[in-house]
Amino acid sequence: MLFKRKATRKLYNPEAVPAHVGIIMDGNGRWAKRRGMPRMAGHRAGSNALRDITKACGKMGMTALTVYAFSTENWKRPKEEVNNIMALLLEFLKNAEKEIEGQNVQIRVIGDVSAFSDELQREIVRVEKVTGVNDGLVLNIALNYGGRSEITRAVRILADKAKKGEINPEDITEESISECMYTSDLPDPDLIIRPSGEYRLSNFLIWQSAYSEFWFSDILWPDFTVKDLEKAIGDFQKRNRRFGGVEER
Ligand code: IPE
Ligand code: IPE
Ligand code: MG
Repeated sequence: MLFKRKATRKLYNPEAVPAHVGIIMDGNGRWAKRRGMPRMAGHRAGSNALRDITKACGKMGMTALTVYAFSTENWKRPKEEVNNIMALLLEFLKNAEKEIEGQNVQIRVIGDVSAFSDELQREIVRVEKVTGVNDGLVLNIALNYGGRSEITRAVRILADKAKKGEINPEDITEESISECMYTSDLPDPDLIIRPSGEYRLSNFLIWQSAYSEFWFSDILWPDFTVKDLEKAIGDFQKRNRRFGGVEER
C-alpha cells in the first residue's frame, strides 16, 4: 500500500506548471562519444528526446517551450558536423507534422534563418504556416540563434524607426525592446534547463532570462526524459521568486 502510494506520487504540481520553459539541448556529442559512435548519432538521439519532451510539455498545458538547437557560434564546428546537423534539421521539419499529429503544437523557428539553404528556409516557412493554425503549445526552435544577435537586431529595428522619425529616443523602453524580440508575444521563460553538466547560458535568451530560474543537471540531452522534466518543474515550484521584492510568505 505504502509502495503504491509512493509510486504514483507526482514529482510536480500539475496546477502550477511554468508557462514558458527554455532548454539548452546540450551533450549530444558526449553522449555519442561515450558509446563509441559518431557525434551525429548523438544529434539524432537528441532529436528523439525533443519529440518526447515536446509532447509532455503540451500535455502539461505549457504556453511555450523554447529549445536551443543551433547557436550563432555553432558555425565554428567542422563543416561535416554542420552539414549533418542541417540535414537532420531538414528531416526533422519534413516529418514535423507527423511527429506532432493531434498535439495542437505550433512550431516556430527563432534566429537568423537567412544563413540557411533555400530548401531549409522553405521548409521552415512551410512548417510554421501549417502548424500556425494550432493554438496549443508554441515550440520555438532556436536556429542560428544568439541572444546578442537578437538584441542587435532589436536595436537596429528601433534605430531604423528613429531615423524615419516614427519614434523618439525616449520612446525606447524595456517594453519596446521586448516587442522587437523573437518571443515578443510570449511570457519570459520561467525556467531554463541546461543538461550536460555545463553551467552557462551560451548566448541563449539573454534578454528574456533576466528573472528566469535555472535548473542544471549532468544528464546528457539524449538521455533526458519526461521524468527529468517533471523533476526540474518540481524543483522550480519550490523556489521563491521575488523579482527584487520581499518574500511573500
Ligand atoms: C548540443 O550538443 C547540440 C548542438 C550544439 C548542435 P553538442 O554537440 O554541443 O554536444 P557536446 O557538448 O559536444 O557533448
Ligand atoms: C549551446 O551548446 C548551443 C546549443 C545547445 C544549440 P554549445 O555546446 O554550443 O555551448 P558551449 O560551446 O558548450 O558553450
Ligand atoms: Mg555542447
